[in-house]
Amino acid sequence: LAKVEVELSSIPEGKNAIIKWRGKPVFIRHRTQGEIDEARSANWKTFRDPESDEDRTQRPEWLIMLGVCTHLGCVPIGEAGDFGGWFCPCHGSHYDISGRARKGPAPLNLEVPAYEFNDADGKLVI
Ligand code: FES
Repeated sequence: LAKVEVELSSIPEGKNAIIKWRGKPVFIRHRTQGEIDEARSANWKTFRDPESDEDRTQRPEWLIMLGVCTHLGCVPIGEAGDFGGWFCPCHGSHYDISGRARKGPAPLNLEVPAYEFNDADGKLVI
């Protein structure tokens, strides 16, 4: 399986990076403490695809997910939408700062791929 490595120090806090993995965009966000607090305090049990932020992240400051809208596959835009996360312009789906579907036609949260942190060299391996 093709793996991709990302130098985490190249992504400042409060910024998004987009990489390609197996032909798909992967979103990597280095979240701020405020964003982590917001993601973790949300009342996720009421969401359409109920997932806690803890279940979606290995480390709270790093949110890693496929940049593929779960409605019909467009690429959502970062730092947009009504919930401080991503917005899909194709049909108006809004995702929060944990990538959870909050409004619009998307039925599921943005998918989290398998990944690991390589602390020895500061890299993320997807
Ligand atoms: Fe994203 Fe339809 S593909 S809202």
